[in-house]
Amino acid sequence: MLIKRFTVAGLALLFVCTISVNSYAAGSSKEICASSAKEFQKINRLKGYFPEELTDADYETLRKAGEVMKNNEQERIEKFNVDANTRAMSQVVQIHAGNIEERARGDKVGLIEDIGHSFRFLFLSCRSCHQVYKTEEGLAP
Ligand code: HEC
Repeated sequence: MLIKRFTVAGLALLFVCTISVNSYAAGSSKEICASSAKEFQKINRLKGYFPEELTDADYETLRKAGEVMKNNEQERIEKFNVDANTRAMSQVVQIHAGNIEERARGDKVGLIEDIGHSFRFLFLSCRSCHQVYKTEEGLAP
C-alpha cells in the first residue's frame, strides 16, 4: 500500500517536472513558429483567390504576414540560434518572407502569382528546418 502511494507520488512529480521542462523550452523556437504559422495560414488562404477578389486590406494582410515572419526569424537568430545550420535556415525563411513583403507593396498585376511563387519557397524553407530538427513530429509545413 505504501509502495503504491510512493509510486503515485513519484509519477505525479515526474509529470510536473516534464511539464515544466517543456514549457521552459517553449519560450524559444516554438513560440516564434506559432506566430509565423498564423501568418503563413493567412497567405495560404489569400493566395487561393482570384486577383479581382482581393481588397486593399488583403494586400496589406499579405505584406504584414511577410514582414512578421521575416522579423520572427530575425528574433530567432538573435535570441535562440546556437548553430550555423539553424541560422542559415532562418535566413532562407527571411529571404522569402521578405520577398513576399516587398512584392505585396508593388504592382497588383501578377502580384498574387508572384506571392504564390515565393510562398512555395517559404514553405520549403520552413520545412527544411523541421525536417532537420523535428522530422518525427509531422509538422505542417
Ligand atoms: C530554424 C529552424 C526553424 C524554422 C526556420 C522554422 N521552424 Fe517551425 N519549428 C522549429 C522547431 C525546432 C519546432 C518545434 C518546437 C518545439 O516543439 O519546441 C517548430 C515548430 C513549429 C510548429 C508547431 C508549433 C507548436 O505550437 O507546436 C509550427 C506550426 C511551425 N513550427 C511553423 C513554422 C513556420 C510556418 C515556419 C516558417 C515561416 C517555421 N516553422 C520555421 C524550427 C523551425
